[in-house]
Amino acid sequence: MKKIKLNDLKEFSVKALLSAGMSETDANTVADVLITTDTFGVMTHGTRNLNQYIQKMKAGGLDAKAEPTIEREGTAWAIINGNKAVGMVSSYKAMNLAIQMAKKAGIAYVGVKNSCHFGAAGYYANLAAKEGMIGLSMSNADPIMAVPNGCKPAIGTNPFAFAAPLGNGKSVFLDIALSNVAALKVIMAREKGQEIPDTWLVDTEGQPTKDAFKFPEEASLQPMAAHKGYGLAVLVELLTSVLTGAGILSEVASWNLELSSVNNAGHAFIAIDISKMMPMDMFIQRIWQMADELKKGPKAKKADKIYLPGEMEWERREQVLASGEMELTDAMVDSLRQLSESTGIVFPIM
Ligand SMILES: NC(=O)c1ccc[n+]([C@@H]2O[C@H](COP(=O)([O-])OP(=O)(O)OC[C@H]3O[C@@H](n4cnc5c(N)ncnc54)[C@H](O)[C@@H]3O)[C@@H](O)[C@H]2O)c1
Repeated sequence: MKKIKLNDLKEFSVKALLSAGMSETDANTVADVLITTDTFGVMTHGTRNLNQYIQKMKAGGLDAKAEPTIEREGTAWAIINGNKAVGMVSSYKAMNLAIQMAKKAGIAYVGVKNSCHFGAAGYYANLAAKEGMIGLSMSNADPIMAVPNGCKPAIGTNPFAFAAPLGNGKSVFLDIALSNVAALKVIMAREKGQEIPDTWLVDTEGQPTKDAFKFPEEASLQPMAAHKGYGLAVLVELLTSVLTGAGILSEVASWNLELSSVNNAGHAFIAIDISKMMPMDMFIQRIWQMADELKKGPKAKKADKIYLPGEMEWERREQVLASGEMELTDAMVDSLRQLSESTGIVFPIM
């Protein structure tokens, strides 16, 4: 495990994005999304992927200079064309627009088309929570998940997040893929030669398999909680692609395996302005009523604590911010080193 100072990681990331042709503002946005995600402990969806995004810009699958544009809008909704911009740039603009619209209308939806992998969904939901709103964020993705009674990849793992403010700078937030486990967990098991539970994959006959080596060519991920995860993934597909004009299901390319292809993913962002519906202090009192009742419930044998969704992530972030430095996984070190070699920007590892 290697360590890095947060400020150094930010500077490195911004410089790398500027070297790819991005504006200072957009480079700072992308770096903030990725590093915040790392500090929450979601190391699979933060700066580990920076190199791939930059390679995709160089290969033409992303446009570093593109500006997302509002294509259509009403009083409480809009559709943004990402214009092939980096997913984080379009998503940041879209959630901020939803927040501004919700300040007037109470609730707003902003959909995005012609976008790409946006990283971790939770970042955007938390933008709304920071503004005293309930936020929802979601994306479709290239199909790597089978559906019940199916035997081939049919739908993306379609990440979904919500966040609600707790009145103390933190939020209750859930940020999940709608597959039973993330693809990376299968890949990690394969690398370690471990057998996997039969609830992670189905083979090409639609039967559960414990063989991680079959993924992705001869196996697909299983949806979270069978038909329930499948149904929610369809809802995400509706709000992110069917309604926005983005690629539907197989019209979305793999963002990291097909670097020169336009990804064509879509996203959806919803903001609900709490203060329009009840006084903020009343909401905070009520959300803590809920949180306390959940957290003070009887614990399972050997369990030391009941967590709220997002609580573990806030604990990790607090630790990292307090020390000003973060441990990097081996996969992050490898990826950031490659980026350093290809750009000539020094990788400031400790
Ligand atoms: N952009 C994309 O295309 C894409 C695709 C898939 C996943 N992702 C991202 O991958 C990340 C990981 O997804 P995942 O499905 O592996 O997440 P996960 O299974 O690790 O679940 C994480 C969530 O569950 C909550 N949680 C975990 N244990 C808990 C407990 N004991 N009590 C209460 N809450 C608990 C966490 O607070 C967090 O919100 C997410 O950030 C997601 O957005 C992105």
